[in-house]
Amino acid sequence: MRLLMLANPGANRVYAAHATTLAAAELAVSAPGAREVTPRTVAGVSYLGFETDALDATEAERTAALRRIARQSTFLALFEERPDGLLRPLEVADPDLFEDDLVTIPKYPGKTNEQFTRLLLNVTLAAVECPLDEHATVLDPLCGRGTTLTTAWMAGLNAAGVEVEEKAVEQLAAFLKTYLRRKRLKHRAELVPVRREGKSLGRKFEATVHLPDRDLTMGVFTGDTRSSAKLWGKRRFEAVVTDAPYGVVHGARSDVVGTTGKRDRSPAGLLKGAVGVWAHQLKDGGALGLSWNTHGLDRADLVAMVTEAGLVVKDEGPWRGFEHRVDAAIQRDVLVAVKPDGADPDH
Ligand SMILES: C[S@@+](CC[C@H](N)C(=O)[O-])C[C@H]1O[C@@H](n2cnc3c(N)ncnc32)[C@H](O)[C@@H]1O
Repeated sequence: MRLLMLANPGANRVYAAHATTLAAAELAVSAPGAREVTPRTVAGVSYLGFETDALDATEAERTAALRRIARQSTFLALFEERPDGLLRPLEVADPDLFEDDLVTIPKYPGKTNEQFTRLLLNVTLAAVECPLDEHATVLDPLCGRGTTLTTAWMAGLNAAGVEVEEKAVEQLAAFLKTYLRRKRLKHRAELVPVRREGKSLGRKFEATVHLPDRDLTMGVFTGDTRSSAKLWGKRRFEAVVTDAPYGVVHGARSDVVGTTGKRDRSPAGLLKGAVGVWAHQLKDGGALGLSWNTHGLDRADLVAMVTEAGLVVKDEGPWRGFEHRVDAAIQRDVLVAVKPDGADPDH
């Protein structure tokens, strides 16, 4: 079937000249069975055209396929392009578990753009080879105030995080408590101290929301991302999804928090110490999706780091189609890699 996806015009504001290329790459890797993804103009309106057999299936498979298309970060509407040239609008149910204000209300410097976060989550999940059932959990080990975590909740996945700025975790906790109360969603949410062997390890935000047919959980530790495996212990995750610090300075401070001061200010040093830890925390078949500033670290160097950590990088075709300019200091790219079976001897 030939489909035309109408993209949200807001994407142009986020990605400027790269909006169509990014949306096409996202569709190519994450829409079920999408082939021949090409920009099309019909009667002066721009669409992304693609071919797929995923809708010529059982009702349940068709609904699941439409949901994945509707989750595209730029999705606005979908049409079937009929052989006679007419466009037939396809009814697509809202795929999200929450209203989008869960992700859009918080506004703060350093927040990762919401649309981009959804893209990063989508393309990472598309690479996951282990089951994504209702226990599946996404870890953002540099989670800030939680854009990835709430985006994961929207998609029906549990969320886990680590963030070095205690204030960010406090603000996430305060926002989520108010949000869940205001929306009258049954929940439990608290920020608790973490102690192990008599020593304080910071704090943890724990939340559970009880939806009509299931629960969703969120857990966020304060602490350094290189301690993530220590903080999360034996827990393994289906996906690790994170927007790495860009190596830019907000006020007097760099957004990279290192251990030894000045030389740690480049994201390359942080990633070098962290990628192996995150790889270890993935289940077999789990996927890592990482966005970073290429001004501070070449793609080839990051590919080498991730490969050394035992993951297999998706480095061909549309997987290479996500690089885009954010501003004069930030050129952002996305790398996705999968953990092969048996990569970790200890589980
Ligand atoms: C690009 S921001 C991610 C923002 C997040 N996606 C959001 O929308 O709130 C990177 C985050 O990494 C955190 N960070 C930097 N160094 C860290 C470290 N060593 N351990 C844990 N978090 C760190 C920063 O405080 C910042 O919140």
